[in-house]
Amino acid sequence: MGLPMKTLPRPAFLEVTAGTASTIHELYKDCPSYFQLIGMGVPDLLDVERELEALGMDPYRRAHLLEVEGEVLGYVDYKMAYPETDSATISLLLIKESRQGQGLGKLAARGLEAELSGKVSQLYAVVYGNNQKARGFWQSLGYTHLRDGGPSLGWYSKSLV
Ligand code: ACO
Repeated sequence: MGLPMKTLPRPAFLEVTAGTASTIHELYKDCPSYFQLIGMGVPDLLDVERELEALGMDPYRRAHLLEVEGEVLGYVDYKMAYPETDSATISLLLIKESRQGQGLGKLAARGLEAELSGKVSQLYAVVYGNNQKARGFWQSLGYTHLRDGGPSLGWYSKSLV
């Protein structure tokens, strides 16, 4: 008889600051398949630092490290009041490659939905590249495919009301 599956706690959403660039960079380096899938190399530390600068200058953008039991296992980046004032759009939910498929993405998405419900009425997820896994993931969480903005951009959405 196997051991019972450990129940994962919902990840904590840690604030992203300029000081967390190297942590984000380490996470990116642990996710080579995703960057390959979207046709780019893993961003280097300078790219991450620039991205965090851009994030800090946009009052509508939010990003969090996802921490479980003291370990950073993911990252989420979204924009408030986009595309409509009472909506928000997730541009990236990333779970460390070695920890994918264990329910963490689902817990993180549910956590974000709980955080945003009452603040926005619609949550969008934009999927880049030929990312069938991500499309299946959002659909399994109740997001509806709205449209494709070209061959490599899929918009999904869910009502939080
Ligand atoms: N096809 C269909 N459904 C799938 C697939 C798939 N290939 N993979 C997962 N799912 C479904 C499962 O059915 C699962 O439901 P269940 O719990 O009822 O079995 C559900 O998704 C949740 O699966 P998790 O284990 O929580 O998924 P995971 O932790 O791997 O997170 C994620 C999913 C975020 C896509 C992760 O694999 C990842 O980081 N991938 C690389 C980066 C990426 O592609 N991110 C999404 C980009 S799009 C965007 O962020 C808006």
